[in-house]
Amino acid sequence: ELPRFVEIIEVGPRDGLQNESKFVPTQVKAEFIDALWKAGFKEMEITSFVSPKWVPQMGDAAEVMRLSGNLTRSIVLTPNKRGIDNALSSGAKAVAVFIGVSSTFNLKNINKTTEDAVNDLLPHIQELKKSGIYVRACISTAFHCPYEGEVDPADTLALCKVLADAGVDELSVADTIGRATPAESFSLFSLLKRELPDILMAAHFHDTRKMALANIYASLCAGITRFDASAGGLGGCPFAPGASGNASTEDVVYMLHRMGIETGIDLDLLAEAISVVEPHVTRELTSWYYQSYKKE
Ligand code: HMG
Ligand code: MG
Repeated sequence: ELPRFVEIIEVGPRDGLQNESKFVPTQVKAEFIDALWKAGFKEMEITSFVSPKWVPQMGDAAEVMRLSGNLTRSIVLTPNKRGIDNALSSGAKAVAVFIGVSSTFNLKNINKTTEDAVNDLLPHIQELKKSGIYVRACISTAFHCPYEGEVDPADTLALCKVLADAGVDELSVADTIGRATPAESFSLFSLLKRELPDILMAAHFHDTRKMALANIYASLCAGITRFDASAGGLGGCPFAPGASGNASTEDVVYMLHRMGIETGIDLDLLAEAISVVEPHVTRELTSWYYQSYKKE
């Protein structure tokens, strides 16, 4: 049976913008986040405290936090101790750590193997939990790796389990390069829900092959009721060649509402939020819902 309510975690200001090579002014980011907030999002990934040498677009993380960090749950990504310290001193109450299943991906993304990354992360997670911080763990390359190919679901489950046992509040399980199909989504999320029934779990799809909506439907059928999505369908990881944008929030919300599933999001206000950022991004925003909104 399908749920009556689905939570959407808006990742546009973070995943959406991190792959934009032209710097989006900090003030525009703040206006975008504010407009998204007004559209009804209760949880948002707003920026990343990563190395500005690696991702220059996120170099204004502290300023974004100062301008927009006071929303109910503003989540910031952190790759290491330095990022965690900077996030906390900026007042972050919710932190996302991130790690891929595949070692080659981790070497390209965070310059560490999976094993080293896990060993580094676990004590940080414990510290964060002791300080009462909400911890989200993003699991990249849960289905496919751009360098190693297909990922064994047993490896994805094992990594999810280690993080769940470490006490994170939530897992966000990602199809980093948008290669999953509905059958794979149903199968992986059925496995994860069966083996880890007690942890809050979100699904994070990229839409490279236009399968994101179908994957979301398949994941709903497997019992997932939380989805990451990006306004305008912006997004992609700079260290995952071939990745394109996330599932576009407006199309996801449209689909869910038309299925009788509530999200708490106002679609018109969401479209307005997208129009705040559109002039500042290089990519054409092709989501069906946003295109038809602009024609009206
Ligand atoms: P490194 O070069 O191995 O580490 O990078 P380092 O310690 O030598 O640091 C390099 C420089 O960055 C140094 O500066 C550090 O001080 C500085 P220098 O001494 O040369 O002047 N530095 C920092 N500055 C600010 N904040 C920090 C920080 N750390 C170091 N936190 C590192 C290792 C992890 C730092 C780097 O690889 C990195 O920042 N990676 C982030 C990559 C990234 O942001 N990827 C995208 C997010 S993940 C994603 O999109 C996937 C997701 O959406 C799910 C999915 O779809 O799969 C979540
Ligand atoms: Mg992503």
